[in-house]
Amino acid sequence: MTPDLVVVGSGFFGLTIAERCARERGLKVLVIDQRSHIGGNAYSEAEPTTGIEVHRYGAHLFHTSVDRVWEYVTRFTTFTDYRHRVYSTVRGEVYPMPINLGTINQFFRAAYTPGQARELVREQAGELAGTDPENLNDKGIQLIGRPLYEAFFKGYTAKQWQTDPKDLPASIISRLPVRYTYDNRYFNDTYEGLPTDGYTAWLERMADHPNIEVRLGTDFFDASQPINKAAVVGQVPVVYTGPIDRYFDYAEGELSWRTLDFEQEVLDVGDFQGTPVMNYADEDVPYTRIHEFRHFHPERQYPDDATVIMREYSRFARRGDEPYYPVNTAADREALLRYRELTKQERGVVFGGRLGTYKYLDMHMAIGSALSTYDNVLPDVLG
Ligand code: FDA
Repeated sequence: MTPDLVVVGSGFFGLTIAERCARERGLKVLVIDQRSHIGGNAYSEAEPTTGIEVHRYGAHLFHTSVDRVWEYVTRFTTFTDYRHRVYSTVRGEVYPMPINLGTINQFFRAAYTPGQARELVREQAGELAGTDPENLNDKGIQLIGRPLYEAFFKGYTAKQWQTDPKDLPASIISRLPVRYTYDNRYFNDTYEGLPTDGYTAWLERMADHPNIEVRLGTDFFDASQPINKAAVVGQVPVVYTGPIDRYFDYAEGELSWRTLDFEQEVLDVGDFQGTPVMNYADEDVPYTRIHEFRHFHPERQYPDDATVIMREYSRFARRGDEPYYPVNTAADREALLRYRELTKQERGVVFGGRLGTYKYLDMHMAIGSALSTYDNVLPDVLG
């Protein structure tokens, strides 16, 4: 087919654009992706020996308070009533997260009321009152006091960044969540759940339209492919959701990212940790958390003598690693501004999504941003 629009990247941003353009405008849309599967980082697959759905690029929990996004996504999937909760192992003891009254009372072996707990945290945070912390460590102490910061955040942050928090800028955090109730629901959004038939079924339904062709294993920068940057830009409108620095061949420098390494294991027990996500806050445990996927879908019939776990390790990304979270240093922000200037000269190309804008986006944000790009930006490009 000769496409009316080329979409680079089959993640939620790209598929939302493709679906809207095909269904609403009747355009022929060619979606290319360098990976061998659809869906970007939200892709999931059944672990072959157990059938347990595994999120290949890290746990994905859907949540939103945006009615328009919820109305849109529920055209393609129903959702379970899963509510995300996280626990953290600290010095051999398990606590509920985010820090709440239950965590505080367990940690201090106390029965504080909300008011007493608030007063205690205020007092402990007072250690650095009146100072202007330059590093993350001091900022953490100033926000929630030394005991809670050192137990729950210090080691965890050091592992996330592979850097002593004393050497990280205070600007990385503006607040650390503490709740003075026993509510340990992780998200506060109006809508939350997991796609009943899994992420890949949802993503495939978005692409299931006669006007949409998805071509996998196709890198936009591979000149040997018929659809590539040199052949397409200026000829056919393009929505590009790959890394913005890569598009310009890193002319303004490489933007920095953190990546994750995942270690997946099938264990011959029916239940390894009793919960989907367990954080490990101590610095001497090398991983940051363990996911146990069966617990995301308690409603499914999974085997009772096997389970799938995934240990997660965090580090700075090198070229070739999966870029997961923007580091966003001052140098990155300056380079991004220069890249944004360059995008203005790329007529007929729209940059979007997590990689195309160098911004961490939750799924609902990527979808919401694609819907508004479809409304407000694409009409100019498509004519
Ligand atoms: P996404 O990265 O999904 O897709 C971009 C696609 O472009 C990829 O498939 C890539 O292969 C392709 N591409 C790049 N360069 C290319 C090239 N040169 N040629 C062809 N194709 C190319 N959100 C949430 O709501 N709840 C959650 O729990 C989580 N959890 C989570 C965990 C981790 C570890 C991460 C990193 C992210 C999350 N997210 C999340 C965020 C979620 O993954 C994110 O919102 C979506 O992936 C964004 O979709 P995009 O389409 O923008 O990018």
